[in-house]
Amino acid sequence: MWHHPATQGNIATLQQRGHHLIPVGIGELASGLSGEGRMAEPEDIARYVGSALSPRYDLAGKSILITAGPTYEPIDPVRFIGNRSSGKMGVALAHAAAARGAQVTLILGPSSQPVHSNINLIRVETAREMHAVAQAHWPSQHAAILSAAVADYRPEFSFAEKIKKKGDASMTLELVQNPDIAAALGESKTARQLLIGFALETSDAEANALQKLHRKNFDCIVLNSMADPGAGFNTDTNKVTLFFKNNKRADFKLKAKQEVAEDILNALLELFNQSPLTP
Ligand code: PMT
Repeated sequence: MWHHPATQGNIATLQQRGHHLIPVGIGELASGLSGEGRMAEPEDIARYVGSALSPRYDLAGKSILITAGPTYEPIDPVRFIGNRSSGKMGVALAHAAAARGAQVTLILGPSSQPVHSNINLIRVETAREMHAVAQAHWPSQHAAILSAAVADYRPEFSFAEKIKKKGDASMTLELVQNPDIAAALGESKTARQLLIGFALETSDAEANALQKLHRKNFDCIVLNSMADPGAGFNTDTNKVTLFFKNNKRADFKLKAKQEVAEDILNALLELFNQSPLTP
């Protein structure tokens, strides 16, 4: 029933008239079939109404793409190359943006973080999958925030069977470069779009972040350093500095990732307001 053209036509009319849509749930339906069209869960309705009534409904009408979590690059059916990203930073961004009225698409690598149902969640595993999904969605977005820790390299071949120890003292894995998702989105960015990247550094943090800001055509880059206790991977807190294209910077103290997310979204909103072209 949800996908029937009559239902979809009526929904589109209501949205055009400025009504907000609480996304439907997915699962068992009254007909006994399973799919899209369940009534949203009461806690999701409460969350949605709460954020719609909140004075910070300042990203309404914006569509925002967020990448989050690690990527896993398979070596064989049981092993992979990955990293320590939990997805907490990116999921916090997605929840905060949705609460402020944005239509959020979250491309999430392997992560156990729960994600609210008002987010368009697309789960991926590898950098190449994340790249393909990000490229497909980017043209329709007003902004993207790239918080994922993407593997720069993957094994050239993924073995079909589990690799067995053969008594050799060592083994060599040939690695090849993965696509740079941020650079690809930066290259195709239009004057109406904004792009915020992250930089995770262990040394020469500021110089490396500034270099990435320009090389990947970001409007802003969020630097977090592994050198700061409580910042970076798999913590509930983060300590960030934002660098902008116009040489401005903003330093923040260590705080919960939910609060860091609000700071980043405030910066995005300011960029939207400064840009004459963004709708
Ligand atoms: O997930 P958590 O545990 O909460 O940790 C959060 C985090 C530390 C992962 C996050 O805050 C963070 O710093 N994410 C970016 C990590 C990173 O890979 O940074 P980088 O300096 O290697 O990459 C620079 C930018 O290019 C990033 O926006 C990254 O998403 C992007 N990139 C990098 C490589 C690649 N192949 N494609 C990309 O899009």
